[in-house]
Amino acid sequence: MTRNIVVTSALPYANGPIHLGHLVEYLQTDIWVRYQKLSGNRCLYFCADDTHGTPVMLRAQSEGIAPEKLIERVHAEHKKDFDDFGIEFDNYYSTHSPENQQMSSHIYQKLKDAGSITTRDVEQAYCENCKMFLPDRYVRGTCPKCKSPNQYGDSCDACGMTYQPTDLIEPKCSVCSQPPVRKKSIHYFFKLGDYADRLKKLIADGYTNESVGNKLDEWFNAGLKDWDISRDGPYFGFKIPGEENKYFYVWLDAPIGYIASCKNYCDNNGLDFDSVWNDKSWELYHFIGKDIMYFHALFWPAMLMGSGFKTANKLFVHGFLTVNGEKMSKSKGTFIKARSYLNHLDPEYLRYYYAAKLSSHVGDIDFNTDDFIARVNSELVGKLANLASRSAPMLTQKLDGKMGVLDAAGKALVDKLIAACQEIKDDYESLNYASVVRKITALADEANKYVDDVQPWKTVKTDMELTRTNITAILNSVKILATYLKPIIPMFVARIEKFMQTELFTFANVANVLELHTIGKFEHLIERIDKEKVQSMIEEIAQVQVPAQKQELAEPIAEECTIEDFMKVDLRVAKVIKAEAVEGADKLLSLELEIGPLQRHVFAGIKSAYKPEDLVGKLVICVANLKPRKMKFGLSEGMVCAAGPGGKDIFVLSPDEGAQSGQRVH
Ligand code: 2FM
Ligand code: ZN
Repeated sequence: MTRNIVVTSALPYANGPIHLGHLVEYLQTDIWVRYQKLSGNRCLYFCADDTHGTPVMLRAQSEGIAPEKLIERVHAEHKKDFDDFGIEFDNYYSTHSPENQQMSSHIYQKLKDAGSITTRDVEQAYCENCKMFLPDRYVRGTCPKCKSPNQYGDSCDACGMTYQPTDLIEPKCSVCSQPPVRKKSIHYFFKLGDYADRLKKLIADGYTNESVGNKLDEWFNAGLKDWDISRDGPYFGFKIPGEENKYFYVWLDAPIGYIASCKNYCDNNGLDFDSVWNDKSWELYHFIGKDIMYFHALFWPAMLMGSGFKTANKLFVHGFLTVNGEKMSKSKGTFIKARSYLNHLDPEYLRYYYAAKLSSHVGDIDFNTDDFIARVNSELVGKLANLASRSAPMLTQKLDGKMGVLDAAGKALVDKLIAACQEIKDDYESLNYASVVRKITALADEANKYVDDVQPWKTVKTDMELTRTNITAILNSVKILATYLKPIIPMFVARIEKFMQTELFTFANVANVLELHTIGKFEHLIERIDKEKVQSMIEEIAQVQVPAQKQELAEPIAEECTIEDFMKVDLRVAKVIKAEAVEGADKLLSLELEIGPLQRHVFAGIKSAYKPEDLVGKLVICVANLKPRKMKFGLSEGMVCAAGPGGKDIFVLSPDEGAQSGQRVH
């Protein structure tokens, strides 16, 4: 029976480029959707840009353009990246759309009517200079617990403590560096707790898989709290109906963007939106990453329940991407944008590689560059493309391109390959693509063994008809394996379909054997990955990431200072004569410095990068006239200059060997 299916992937934010981490999800989903379509099901794949919120608003501001202009540009960039990776949405829309505004207001009104919305005062950091409330990430200051400087307003990277932005010591607005004040305003809340029982039932009925279910239990046990769904202006988003300066929080209208994308598609394609989105005859699946489970397993289904919509049949949750075993990081040069990849490498290498690693589990997957090269070259090129290039050119060049009829051995091979169809389909259906790839490569091994046994390159000199018969079996194997691979590498398969000169491959026609059929000119299917191309991609990333970081300083440049101000800072060469860890402080070292004849005691937040014993005897530069500060652990009588992003990368600015302790630096 033909199934009707709607599929969504999470909506990428409109304030940054698509990267290889995003692509895990879009490729996982695209493969599933293609599989459904090739199985004869009706399947619609919807997505959109997630356009609202403070980061988009501030980014547009910093570029001196309207947010509408920014999101339009980013939409085009995202769409081009997806197209080039062969990700085929039925609609790629935007949350900044009339359909989404109308639907967000509608759902909000329904929730209000159901008694699920409440209001109360919230006190937040407010910048009087920028005239805006500051989200936690836009307040920076010193951690109230471990005293690490320059921490975000929600949690300390150094000691892990979580707190309110206004708890920071010397908090600063990260836009203008002014200290924020505390200010109250009324916020709207969605009463999530009222839905706890229905949500528990949804999950018990199989909305998520088990490992995700366990995480949800923790949340249920902790109790579901009301969810703040409003933000005060200025904010880039939709106004809350009946309010002048209050907007829906971006996460309220983002998932509603799934509905809006579907509605926009239905209206443009003569489909009945109410049935497609809300009728049980259409299945609905959301693909997401594990970081946004709370939203999709709790808030989102509760919002749908409260506003009269059905919930999805299932939430498919995947893990994160690591690059060579580590979290993608801009500073480490492992943040690979989709475009940087495309500038050097064939998108289908990545489609194949991700498929070879993906399963239905939420575990992370690793993009290991050596393994990537090895697997693509040995499996995709060495086993699969090779099967075609060992047979098709010989048929066209020596045997008029005409296939013959299978003999018993050929039929046995072909039957074996066809027999795997159902298992492979089951693996696709359950997202076990790694198993699909394993099965296909094992079958390719059998087909290649057949080629080795029948040796067409030899028989073509002695027995043309036998060669034709054998090549017929090989080319039928190519067709079957190409059909199985089609959801994963559609462009590669399209090249096979082209030279085969036959109907497009589907799971329904996989068992249609080609006999007495004439094929067309064979064209090269795929290149081996050249290691140097991977290297050039890595070099490009290293180059482009420097200016990108310049554009987006994590911390804005502080207020201007004059040369006179600067000259007040007395920078001196100092020698470390004693260094030791400070009990109870995660980041600090206690240093005794010798500045010429003077001795000073200084605390420096450099423990993550230096062992105390390695510092003794080293020269550093210190601010010698800094007013002594009483810290939790004692008095600090100066400051050691250092540079770097933090963690292991903190570089104490030590002068060259010839410098003298006490010498002035400027
Ligand atoms: O986490 C994110 O990248 C969000 N932009 C995902 C939104 S998914 C959906 F709810 F809109
Ligand atoms: Zn400010």
